[in-house]
Order: sequence, then C-alpha cells, then structure tokens
Amino acid sequence: MSIVDDLLALYADKGRAQYGGEPVSQLAHALQSAALAEAEGAGDTLIAAALLHDVGHLVDRHADGAAEAGVDRQHEDIAAGYLARWFAPAVVEPIRRHVAAKRCLVTTEPGYFAALSEESVRSLKVQGGAFTPDEASRFLAMPGAEDALRLRKWDDLAKVANAKTPDLARYRRRLEAGLKPSSS
Ligand SMILES: [Fe+2]
Repeated sequence: MSIVDDLLALYADKGRAQYGGEPVSQLAHALQSAALAEAEGAGDTLIAAALLHDVGHLVDRHADGAAEAGVDRQHEDIAAGYLARWFAPAVVEPIRRHVAAKRCLVTTEPGYFAALSEESVRSLKVQGGAFTPDEASRFLAMPGAEDALRLRKWDDLAKVANAKTPDLARYRRRLEAGLKPSSS
C-alpha cells in the first residue's frame, strides 16, 4: 500500500465523522475543498492540499472532546508533521498555515470575520484570535502565504450540507502529483 492508498482509505473510513460543529462530514468537507480548488484552476499540489488540509483531525488520536473542552490540538501542525514525510512542501506548507491564514484574514479582509461559520469563530478563539496588523504583515510576507490564503477561503466555503462533489478516487492523480520525488 502506498501513502496515497492509505490516505484514500483513511478518508473513506474515518472521513464519515462529522466535521466539528459543521453540517458536513470530514470527507464531504475535504471533497468540497478540493472541488473548489479545482474550479478555480489551482495546480495539482494545491488541490492535494485542499483535499488533505484537515487530515490532522483524522490522524489525531486525542482529538475527541478537545474542541468542546476549548483545547486547540493544532491540527494544522499535526497534519503537516504527518504529511511532510511523503508530500512536497507545496502541499504541506499551505496546510501548515491554513489556521494562521484565518487569523490573518480576520485582520486584513473586511467582511471576512462576519462570514465565518459559528464553529470557525469558536475555534478562532482557541487558535489565538485575530493577528495584530504586524503579525498579519509578517504572515503575508512569507513565501507561500498566497497559497495558504487561497486554501483557507476554500476551507471556509466547503461546509455546504449535501453538496455534490466528485468521488474521492478521482483525486488519486492529484495526490500522487504532490508526492516528493523519493516517495512516488
Ligand atoms: Fe477545514
């Protein structure tokens, strides 16, 4: 089994779990994120990142009850740490930064906060809240910040109950394209 087989199996199995307090499963959320990335003409690596951005929730053995207890498990770091062994930085880094991207957008983009779901507002608090203007500037100056912001916006929109999406298996090629040369 390759890592891509493992991930597809993980989503097919554990992906049926509810995505936090949102009206979609983890799998539906992942597929909607990837479909939005595809619709916007993103490249393979960013589509792979969109699909996998919340894998930290699926591989975290201590996730149960954490959100309700107000504990931030830092699923973005769990995901990045897990994926970095196999996937290229172009996949891993936007995932690592997708929470920071939310903290940035709350500060820099008028109307962004008001459009966040209730659950995202709740998690924002335990994730450290809005960036200061200085923190936002530093984030925006980092290489790859643009990809993290794009991923974040797909993430925010990918919470539509019963939305039609492509099948998980259709993303195999995108995931394989995101592997580091030594992993493929
Ligand atoms: Fe997400």
